[in-house]
Amino acid sequence: MTDLRPLAWPPAPIKTERLILRESEARDRAAVIELNASPEVGTYLGGPRPRAELERTVPEVPGRRPGFFVVELDGTTIGTIQLDPQDPERPGNRLEAGETELGYLFLPEAWGYGYATEACTAALDWFADALPGEPVVLYTQTANVRSMRLAEKLGFSELERFTAYGAEQWFGVLHKIPGWQSAATSCKDREWPSATSVARTTTS
Ligand SMILES: CC(C)(COP(=O)(O)OP(=O)(O)OC[C@H]1O[C@@H](n2cnc3c(N)ncnc32)[C@H](O)[C@@H]1OP(=O)(O)O)[C@@H](O)C(=O)NCCC(=O)NCCS
Repeated sequence: MTDLRPLAWPPAPIKTERLILRESEARDRAAVIELNASPEVGTYLGGPRPRAELERTVPEVPGRRPGFFVVELDGTTIGTIQLDPQDPERPGNRLEAGETELGYLFLPEAWGYGYATEACTAALDWFADALPGEPVVLYTQTANVRSMRLAEKLGFSELERFTAYGAEQWFGVLHKIPGWQSAATSCKDREWPSATSVARTTTS
């Protein structure tokens, strides 16, 4: 299991063209609850969680762990990005393909502006600099069209599709080279290859 704990954490806030990525703080609690209670956000993630339960269980400072980034736009929290060890309990997981898994949750009002692409690219750049050569894997439902498009823009290559939780799941991997030109700076101007057309990367 890739252990992110030895990494210098938190990093200095990462500034992109429009966003700031930083470690979580107490002021992010409301947004974290909103993300998990939102029916739109939860559509392909097993559904929203009851708000009352979240109010009870979300810690005062949520997501205090290496690899958990809060994404801020003009002082407002709009989403979170997680680089976590793969869950060994996940049905159909492919632990051998890479030990670190990317996850992302953005508030619906922040969808459609390229913020997720911009923020995930910065987080993946940070990860590639911190652990050069270490792959990152991604699971998403194929029905989650926005997430599928994001995976493609980020450069993930499809390894497999399988059924779990009663739905088709997409499993991909990214081997990012440190210093690789960020997709976020140019994704509006480029023709991106489809994830399935990118040469398949061997698992290791
Ligand atoms: C998955 C998710 C992060 C994608 O969000 P998103 O806003 O669609 O993703 P992007 O940041 O790539 O934005 C792309 C859109 O912004 C538009 N856009 C506008 N301005 C842009 C800019 N300056 N740069 C890039 N894209 C821009 C693009 O045209 C595209 O629009 P389209 O969807 O109409 O084609 C979001 O839907 C979400 O949080 N879903 C719920 C959580 C979830 O399912 N997570 C998956 C877990 S693995």
